[in-house]
Amino acid sequence: MNQFLKAILILVIIATTGCYYDNEEKLYSEISTSCDLTNVTFAATVKPILQASCYACHSNANATSSGDGIKLENYTDVQNLAKNGKLMGTVNHSKGYPAMPKGGGKLSDCEINQLQKWIDNGTPNN
Ligand code: HEC
Repeated sequence: MNQFLKAILILVIIATTGCYYDNEEKLYSEISTSCDLTNVTFAATVKPILQASCYACHSNANATSSGDGIKLENYTDVQNLAKNGKLMGTVNHSKGYPAMPKGGGKLSDCEINQLQKWIDNGTPNN
């Protein structure tokens, strides 16, 4: 075998065996779908969930016209609904509560668990 063919052979071997391609989606899917229950706060966790799924009807501005007067924007309003069981009753679609978000899909398990975690932590205003 001449030098040229040897060189090609070596290159082929390197090209087919030398590299290992990580599949980013496979490697990180577990991380990106995991639910963060350790850093749950009112400002950074609870409010964004309510904002995305509930403020169309329960913001301070929309509550009277669309949300039956129920407000989910200020901390004390959310805290009261957490303490009387209505917040979790509605998002869990529990018996005896109107299912929320009204007319929309149920919150994700992660979002529901994060709301529950905030309540378990004592509904801190953080
Ligand atoms: C499309 C409008 C709409 C959206 C979106 C919506 N709600 Fe409501 N919500 C209502 C209305 C209207 C009522 C009054 C009860 C009824 O008509 O079912 C209500 C009632 C409630 C109540 C009071 C229940 C009770 O037993 O008195 C709570 C708590 C509540 N909603 C929480 C939420 C939460 C949390 C979200 C978001 C995850 C949400 N809602 C999204 C319209 C909405």
